[in-house]
Parts: sequence; C-alpha cells; structure tokens
Amino acid sequence: MTLKKHMLNRRELIQNIAAVSTVRAVGGVGAQQSRSISVAERVLALSDMAIELTRQGWSRPERNCRSKGKSLTIGHRQFKSGLGTVADSILQIDLKGAAKAFSAWVGPDAVGGPSACVRFYVVVDGRVAVRTPAIKGGSAPVQIFVNLKGAKKMLLVVDAAGHHTWNNYADWGDAAITLQAHATALPEAQRYEPDMSVPEIAHGNSEQPEFHGPQAIGTTPGKPFIFRIPVTGSGKINLSVTGLPAGLELNQQGVLRGSVEHGGSYKVEIVARNHLGRTSRRLEIRAGERMLAQTPPMGWSSWNAFGVNVDQEKVWRAADLLVRSGLAGKGYSFVNIDAGWTGQRNSAGRIMPDKTKFPDIKALIDHVHALGLKFGLYASPGPEDCGGFIGSYGHEIQDIQTYAQWGVDYFKYDWCSYGQTITATPKTAEYIEPYAIMGQAIGTVDRDIVFSLCQYGMADPWKWAAGPQVRGNLWRISDDLIDFWASVCVNGFHCDRNIAAYAGPGHWNDPDMLVVGTMDFTNAGLGFPGKPQPSRLTPLEQQTHITLWSLLAAPLIIGCDLSKLDPFTLDLLSNTEVIAVDQDVLGKQAQCIKQIGCIQIWARPLADGTAAVGIFNLGPVAEKASVRWSELTVILPRDMVLSGKQPTRDLWMRRNLGHRDGLDMELPSHGSMFVKVGRPRPAVGR
Ligand code: GAL
Repeated sequence: MTLKKHMLNRRELIQNIAAVSTVRAVGGVGAQQSRSISVAERVLALSDMAIELTRQGWSRPERNCRSKGKSLTIGHRQFKSGLGTVADSILQIDLKGAAKAFSAWVGPDAVGGPSACVRFYVVVDGRVAVRTPAIKGGSAPVQIFVNLKGAKKMLLVVDAAGHHTWNNYADWGDAAITLQAHATALPEAQRYEPDMSVPEIAHGNSEQPEFHGPQAIGTTPGKPFIFRIPVTGSGKINLSVTGLPAGLELNQQGVLRGSVEHGGSYKVEIVARNHLGRTSRRLEIRAGERMLAQTPPMGWSSWNAFGVNVDQEKVWRAADLLVRSGLAGKGYSFVNIDAGWTGQRNSAGRIMPDKTKFPDIKALIDHVHALGLKFGLYASPGPEDCGGFIGSYGHEIQDIQTYAQWGVDYFKYDWCSYGQTITATPKTAEYIEPYAIMGQAIGTVDRDIVFSLCQYGMADPWKWAAGPQVRGNLWRISDDLIDFWASVCVNGFHCDRNIAAYAGPGHWNDPDMLVVGTMDFTNAGLGFPGKPQPSRLTPLEQQTHITLWSLLAAPLIIGCDLSKLDPFTLDLLSNTEVIAVDQDVLGKQAQCIKQIGCIQIWARPLADGTAAVGIFNLGPVAEKASVRWSELTVILPRDMVLSGKQPTRDLWMRRNLGHRDGLDMELPSHGSMFVKVGRPRPAVGR
C-alpha cells in the first residue's frame, strides 16, 4: 500500500503511514554510497505533502509528473513519485520531531534540455546538510540522504548554481521522509516565508545643494537638446552655468535647452546655491554624430506598472511624479510609453494613437518636455507588437518620421511578431535587418532618438547592435525581468564577462527595467498576479537587484507606479552614490572576478581611479564572504593598482568604512554589499 492520494486528511494519513511497510533503497549522500534497509520503515513521500506551497520563480510546482503527463525524468531515469519544480525554488518542511531521514534522487528534468543547470540543497535547522555540485541537463540523477534525527525544520532548495536560464526544471525524484519508529505527529510542508525585513540604507537627501546623475551627455549639433539639471537641496536652488556651447541656454526651471551649433566636447561648469551653501559640478556636453546615451539611460516606463492599460492621464501623472518625488532631481529623465498606446493607421498610412486612451499625444509629449524631461515610445518591427497592436512592418520610415514630429526622444523596438515574416531558422543577418532598417531611418530624422533594441538577446545583439548598420544605444540581453529572484539571476548575474566588453558610452547591455516598487504584471501575458502589488522580491533582494544593475552599467528604467512609491523604494532608486556608479563616465560594465561557493564578487573600474565592488550571496543561507582589494587587479586598468589599505566606502549607507585591504563579512542569503574602493584622483584634467 502506498500513499498515492494527495489530500488525505491528517488522521487518514497517519493511519496509512502506520500501515505502510515499504522497503525502500535509501541512498547515502551523493551517488556513491548506498544504504540498504532490511527492516520495514514508515515512509512519507514528499508528493503526499502539500508541495503546492513550494515557492518558485515561475510556473507551478508539479506532483509526480511534468505538465502534459510526462514523467519526472532525470537523465534516462523516470520517477513515479516526487516534486517537479523550477529553480530557484524553496519548500519548507516542519519535521515535527518525527523524521529520521530524508532521501531523494535529484537532478534537472529532461524537459529543460541540455542547457539546464541546477544545484540542490537540503538545509536542516539553518545548516546546509547537503549541497550537490551543479548538475547539468542530461546528467544521471544524484542520490541524496540526510540524517534528520532531532531536526526541527528542513528546507529543500534548488538554485541555478550561477548558470541562470529559464529552463532550469529540477526534480526531487522518489523524495521521501523516513519517520521515527514511534512518531505520532507528521512532518508538514509549509510556505517558506522569506525575511521581509528592510535593510538599513541611507535615507533622504542632504539639505545642501547636491548634483546627481550623468556627468556626460551627448547630442547631435543642430538637433533639439533638452536636459533638466539633476540637483537636490532644500528651498530654492539657484543654478548658474559657464562654458555652455553656442545654441544652448539655461531656463528658469533649471533646464538646458536649444540646440548645439557646432560639434565638440564642452566642459560646462554648473553651480548650485541655496540658503545653506553652494556646490559645483563639471558636465561634459559631447556634440557630434552618434553621441547619444553617453551614460546608461535613466527614466520610467509604463509597462510594469500599467501594461496595455496605459493611458495619457497615467503617463502625464508619472511625468509629474518623476519631478515631484525628486527622482528627476536624481537624473531620471525619460518618460516612456511601452505597448498599449497604438491605434490604427489613417488613410495615408500614418500611425495614430488609440484616441480613447491618448486623446492628445502631442500635448502629453509637450508637457513632458516642458518639465525638462524626455519622451519615449514603443513599437515592433513586425506587423504587430507583443500586445497585438499595429507594428511598423512596411512603414518604418513613415513611423519614425511621425514620432520625430511628435517629439519622441527614445524609441524601443520590440521583435514580437517579426519572426512570422522571415524564415523559421533565421540567420544572424535576418535578426539584424529590421533593426538596421529602423536604425538607419532614425539617423535621417531631425531629432535625436535613443534607439533601444528589444529582441531578448537573440543572435547575440551585443555583437552587432551598436555597429554602423544598426546604431543602437541599448539592447535587451534576455527575456523580460519579473519580480522574482530567479529572474534577477537570469537577467543580471547572466550579464557576465562574455558580454561586458560590448558595453560603453553610447551602447549598453540592457538586463531590462527595474522591478522594485508597486507593479502589475497582469497584462504581461505571463500569468502573474492580477492586481498591482509590491515587488515580490524581498527588500534584501531588491537592494541586491539595484546594486547589480548599477555595477552592470544597466539602463535604470523604473517600472513601478510612481503614485504608490514607498520610502524604501524611493531610497533604493535615489541613492546618489549607487546611481553615480551606474552613470560613471568610464562606462565599464562590471565583471564577476571571483566565485567561492555561493558568493560572487563583481567589480568595475570607475573614471575617478577607484573601483566599485559588489559582493553577493546567491545561496540559500547566510555565508561568510571575503574579498581582498588586490584581487581586483583582474579587472582594473594598469594605472589603477589598489595595493595595500584603501579608503573604503559603503555606498548604500553613504558611510566611510576606513582604510582596509579588503572586506570579511557574513552576508545573508540573497544579500549583497556595495562598496567603493580607492582614493579618487583629483578631478582636474579628467
Ligand atoms: C515584451 C518586452 C517587454 C514589453 C512587452 C510589451 O516583448 O520584452 O519589455 O515591452 O513586450 O508587450
């Protein structure tokens, strides 16, 4: 008799178990040893527990099989019983003091194919009792066995072992808890509640005037220029500038406007004063051909907050809120509409907004510009975009001319249905073509438009998107980022050294929009929630997400509803030192310089001769982490030797940590530390 039926009531279950007289081959840790059992043992199969409580990044936990009736299959071996999950995942089991041992066969499920890679952990009362090596798709199952005598709580965890993909399907095959001979209570699956405590980070702004955001901006001579100077401080702030290129002027609202008359690099000195003091900053205006996005674009997009339910009023309000919240003062300058704005073409083929949602798009764009901000729009090179709205296919030049007339400054071009128009197994040239057509078309309009490619990393866009054919300024490297740890790992920690070298001033890898704050993924077609809700990343994971994006020189495009900004989200988005790393004018994307177990250390050199270092714990429990600054030489240019003790600054706390030759710390699971190391070179001559 086995326990097949799922939702037996508790009493029935206990009776059943008492009656079970199963002899199971329960193995030892790893595939090597085997422990044979000769006596009858009472066994509770994992699949007879409430495995639907498994917390996992996406999809649903599966009982005894994979969807569409496929068996749980690891390598060539099929399992009739067990839990099918997707990394990263975690299931908590309250053992009720009743367990003797846990055993399972684990590995990636065949459904994930050969590129899957997963690692399994069993954490018992806060201690890692089993950690498998990274197991690749197609490998034979690994047998695990854990002694649970006296244990209270067990966590079954799967992560991607640093090989983050969407197909990390993972199985706990024939997983079972062997019970103590005289146990009366039964182990119980529970929803794992992650630590939701809010990490301490610096809050608010200095009352003194302070500059933020980019220190270099690009423009094409003769084309409209608009730049709201990002500055904060209490009371009225008076700005003055010297060294402005001919054609530009500073208006009363602190916005530089006009159009630069001649090409060149202009070092503009800006001074800000309020009743408490004065500060100055050097801003470099680089005027020439193809000079846009000298630092990663910063702004807001409608998609994560409103999906296809975006409308004029919401975007208008978002632009106002970007200013009112102080985020524009930190350098966030683009207000972008994603899918959902498009109506039909008129008789002349001209694209029209959906009038019910956007009665006057020109007025909206003028409003955004009046605030000193810039405006972005979205379309697809295919006949339809991903929301089923009209795409630019066959109308590319006409469309971009329309957008330029409206005043569009940023254009996201999303592959979506384009695949229908080409061969089933496209060559790289076919991936490039639609973007080359649009890239060239953008070059012909009389407006600067940042070109954002969105095709999820197909055919390695980092290798061609910034070239003279396409002239892209940023390109998505992966699928959509959603507010789950696994997704942050897939998009962020995947953005590694193989593609880091392709990022630099004017051209950036884009791991997608930020997933902090209140969002609504209902319309993303991904089967997620159904109502606006705060990011499902824990506060610690959110901090790690922003730390990593800053290190990656990623575009910082806010995805949340700005009318629902909470203080922690605002602090995360507006830490001036974290933004400064992202916006650093050297434009060098961080690389992972070291991995020890679950700890990864990422670093990037900065223009002032210092280095930004992020230390991350990707594992399921707290880990000790250690890094010596001498290890950074791997990524630093030759003239940046950080030997011996170096000034070290905690960026999130905005606090000096003194002179150190490295850091030793204990990092919580999914937590990170973000520091700046080294003595800045004097600014003169930079
Ligand atoms: C996806 C894209 C998202 C969003 C969405 C709109 O393809 O990756 O960022 O633009 O389409 O439908």
